[in-house]
Amino acid sequence: MASLQWTPALVLDLPAMDAVHEEFVALLARVQEAADAQLCALWDELIAHTRQHFGQEDRWMRATRFATGNCHSQQHKVVLAVMSEGAVKGAQGDLAVIRGMAAELGPWFSHHAQNMDAALALHLRRVGFDPVTGQLLAPQELPEQLITGCGGVCGDSAGRAEPQLAA
Ligand SMILES: [Fe+2]
Ligand SMILES: [Fe+2]
Repeated sequence: MASLQWTPALVLDLPAMDAVHEEFVALLARVQEAADAQLCALWDELIAHTRQHFGQEDRWMRATRFATGNCHSQQHKVVLAVMSEGAVKGAQGDLAVIRGMAAELGPWFSHHAQNMDAALALHLRRVGFDPVTGQLLAPQELPEQLITGCGGVCGDSAGRAEPQLAA
């Protein structure tokens, strides 16, 4: 059974981001409902989608004054690395690792979307960033200093910012 459903609580009023998030939720559900024979292929599909998803957010951050090593991008990196480890184990026949990670990805994603992605969406709206053209309509709203945190939610990182996706 899917550990994550698409709900209005996940909508962040940034259509380009919301569309990708809705696809992520649907792909994760397919992974969780997959028979063993399809599991690795669907997991690989989810990884490829997640790489694009995170890469897109990382580019938006870099375009709007986030430092390269900001904590949101770091979290993306860690999660992708863990998912890739799952793919390696899965290819070796250990499907339980993928199933365990898939179950944990649901709650992780809800938290990530409602904290880090929500803060990013708010920041992008504030600076008038158009994700389609890359144009900034309100560049005067950009901070002078590079942003290394996540827009005020890093204080939360002591609890749950690090994904609980044990390999
Ligand atoms: Fe996201
Ligand atoms: Fe994100």
